[in-house]
Amino acid sequence: MTAIFYALPANDVLAERLAIGADGEAGSLCVRNFPDGESFVRVDTDPSGADAVIVATLRHPNELLAPLLFLADGLHDLGAHRVGLVAPYLAYLRQDARFNSGEAITSRTFAQLLSTHVDWLVTVDPHLHRYASLDAIYPIPTSVVHAAPSIGAWIGQHVANPWILGPDAESRQWAEQVAAAAGAPVSILSKTRRGDDDVLETIPALEAHRDRTPVLVDDIVSTGQTMIAAIRHLREGGAPSAVCLAVHAVFAPGAHDVLAAAGPARIVTTNTIPHASNAIDIVPALADAIRAVLTPATVEARGQLLHAG
Ligand code: R5P
Repeated sequence: MTAIFYALPANDVLAERLAIGADGEAGSLCVRNFPDGESFVRVDTDPSGADAVIVATLRHPNELLAPLLFLADGLHDLGAHRVGLVAPYLAYLRQDARFNSGEAITSRTFAQLLSTHVDWLVTVDPHLHRYASLDAIYPIPTSVVHAAPSIGAWIGQHVANPWILGPDAESRQWAEQVAAAAGAPVSILSKTRRGDDDVLETIPALEAHRDRTPVLVDDIVSTGQTMIAAIRHLREGGAPSAVCLAVHAVFAPGAHDVLAAAGPARIVTTNTIPHASNAIDIVPALADAIRAVLTPATVEARGQLLHAG
């Protein structure tokens, strides 16, 4: 039976593209708020017997969570065979430890909450640092799409002589994958975060790559301070302007302008979160991953794939 893709608000274009790419169909639903702020969800396309796929990039997770859970339970209730979640950006992964006493480890709670309502999850480059894989906190099958091949191809077409730089130890995994895909050298910088908006970067010796264009690669750009600190130190070392490249354009309010003012050569992101800086399309890779999850003939292969996240 054809899979039906249901979009949470602001995810309609993505859901339509994914439905086409994964050989499904776009479903219709109504999600809105009552005047008092409580959520209303109505499913208009009957999901009975079908794989239902909720499409919701989780840039604003607090707003989306209640309608998402109501929709997932509603779809189960209406007879969907399975209910999956496609979240190109998966929120609440950075608080993966208690960094200061008393802090709640939100990544764990968020994962448990989603996992009690959906049967599987597909995402793009989740922020995995202290967790080896999503399996550490998500008991449901998960599949991870890596943006590195698409990013590497973009760099190959748009940046002459690139030098890939990861702005901190956590970015190593993405920077190294991108460097391999782009066939470029890679260096990892050292970062000290002294506060939300206060970041200190240490840059390695520039001499070896002075003739190259620095390309800062990170999974998330949020306040932009990590990229800004790296841009400043590269400039002080006499390097050319850096291209800033991130998988997820999280961008806190005003952050893109502040980053642009720091003078990067260009700011580029993938379209896991809609933003003016999107230049790299991950929808085809995402559609392939969803198709693999949905295809009954590949159940065994899927089991392996799903737990490779
Ligand atoms: C953290 O480890 C992430 O990989 C990013 O470096 C971080 O989230 C970027 O945040 P910001 O843009 O606020 O510096």
